[in-house]
Amino acid sequence: MRLRIAVLTGAGISAESGIPTFRGAGGLWERYKLEELASPEAFRRDPKLVWEWYDYRRLKIKEAEPNRGHRLLASMEEEFPNFTLITQNVDGLHQRAGSKRVIELHGNIWKLRCTRCTYEDFNYEAPLKVLPPACPSCGGLLRPGVVWFGESLPIDALEEAYRAAKASDVFLVVGTSGMVYPAAQLPIEAKERGAYLIEVNPEETPLSPYMDTCIREKASVGVEKALELIRSHLQRA
Ligand code: OAD
Repeated sequence: MRLRIAVLTGAGISAESGIPTFRGAGGLWERYKLEELASPEAFRRDPKLVWEWYDYRRLKIKEAEPNRGHRLLASMEEEFPNFTLITQNVDGLHQRAGSKRVIELHGNIWKLRCTRCTYEDFNYEAPLKVLPPACPSCGGLLRPGVVWFGESLPIDALEEAYRAAKASDVFLVVGTSGMVYPAAQLPIEAKERGAYLIEVNPEETPLSPYMDTCIREKASVGVEKALELIRSHLQRA
């Protein structure tokens, strides 16, 4: 049987690369006010402040390296012909670890998008020379290519993620608090269609009650255990 595997990752997969998560102890939303930094209103009010925060995060991400959890997920793409990786992360570490196909639900921090014209492109400079950066095409204000609170998710990515979730035999959830929708709906959809659900997270989450197996480990260890479970047990089922 060709096992169809879908994976949803969140900030926890990058925690061991030194990138802070959003919620929980030491999380970004403990120190910063979400509504002052990650919303269209915040950007309208103070684009420079918002850009300073994103520029700082870009720098931290640039200095970071993908970890074992990212690399194991990249190896799963090679091992299983029917494999879909969905992430809420904007850091691009899955791609740097070797994942070729990544559905990015919340955009990508390396993408810059013009607020005036249709310009958008990747820019890996960190720190940026001028904040806020200007559009090389029309001089308009550039914004980070991420999804802010109150904004819609990219429709193509969301549809593709739903398709993969609904078709999956195994749905693996790694390092997400399961608090942000619609991403958190994906494992629930998968479960309703009969998928086997596995969670890798040191903490319990609102998604835990839906799980068939909870692996209470950090991603570097937990993804390996999930992989063993899939190989030894589920693949034979
Ligand atoms: P959160 O910060 O909400 O949750 C991170 C989860 O990772 C928690 O459940 C932790 O227990 C878990 N965790 C911590 N260290 C871990 C490790 N080493 N291995 C595995 N798990 C670990 O992050 P997300 O669920 O990704 O939205 O947050 C969802 C969205 O909320 C983000 O995409 C972002 C944020 O606001 C946008 O930017 C739109």
